[in-house]
Amino acid sequence: MALKIGDIELKSNLLFAPIAGFSEVGYRHLCMKYGAGLTFTELVSAKGLCYGNKGSEELIATTDTTTPCAVQLFGSDPEFMFKAARDERLKKFDIIDINMGCPVKKVYNNGEGSALMNNPLLIAELVQAVCEGSGKPVTCKMRAGVEMNRPIAVECALAAERGGASAVTIHPRYREQFYSGVADHSITRAVKEAVKIPVIANGDIFDKASLERVKAETGADGFMLARGALGRPYIFAELEGRHFEYSRRATILEHIEILRKYFPDTTVANIMKLHLCYYAKGENFAKQVRVAVGEVKTLDELFKVVDRYFPN
Ligand SMILES: Cc1cc2nc3c(=O)[nH]c(=O)nc-3n(C[C@H](O)[C@H](O)[C@H](O)COP(=O)(O)O)c2cc1C
Repeated sequence: MALKIGDIELKSNLLFAPIAGFSEVGYRHLCMKYGAGLTFTELVSAKGLCYGNKGSEELIATTDTTTPCAVQLFGSDPEFMFKAARDERLKKFDIIDINMGCPVKKVYNNGEGSALMNNPLLIAELVQAVCEGSGKPVTCKMRAGVEMNRPIAVECALAAERGGASAVTIHPRYREQFYSGVADHSITRAVKEAVKIPVIANGDIFDKASLERVKAETGADGFMLARGALGRPYIFAELEGRHFEYSRRATILEHIEILRKYFPDTTVANIMKLHLCYYAKGENFAKQVRVAVGEVKTLDELFKVVDRYFPN
């Protein structure tokens, strides 16, 4: 059955995750092209947006496509979240997602990201504020909980639903784990059984077998890939059994071309350095690419690495 978030019906229930440093406009475009039903920006500070921070502006660059795109906000102050959600610059996004999973110390100690899971009442308030500010469907992305083996995702998802959320994504690791260990999808299932809104399962989906396992374990409505989609945007087509000719070089060049519409060449080079390591992952030249991009300072130098290691 098609996944519907608020009044938005997705063409696929496979979603591309928010990933800081990777979910930029170019890579989101490629994931959409290969069939992701929804993509997300990386986390963007609500306060940063309100204060006109230039870094935040770059993160919300987006293409006009028919595939919906969500902007992910982080913050803990309902007033700032309301203001950010109402911001004209976010009008081009279809959905607003609230980050409730970021484990990073600076964010957590500010009471933001995964720290919100300590306060379900605040979760409901924030969701309500963002719904009122944006008038768009609002989703939340959260973890299993904060401390190891103390799952609180069910309470937090219920709070999000009470606040008016249209869907919730569960990445069932604890904040203490960051990205280590395995995702415990029995927690995703518990959330699915507790709420009426759609539940999106995220964590450790890398191929067809792991996708089928997470589907069976959770009964979720949607499935989100993060690390499993890096360097291979075509995975969204593959997982749906669509086969086609794929040129990695052409994909990399298309990626660069889109980025150049939005960013200066040095920024494009910096963004692509990270991606090239993933495009090379699993190849016998992967290490050489990591070393080579370490030296890259300009886009011309980056093109040389592309020509050398991705000749066709
Ligand atoms: C480098 C990196 C950056 C991330 N940035 C974000 C982010 O900005 N917002 C967010 O909600 N999750 C972020 N995540 C978490 C992912 O979206 C996802 O929940 C997590 O990697 C588990 O999914 P996976 O097993 O498919 O990788 C990040 C993860 C990584 C590894």
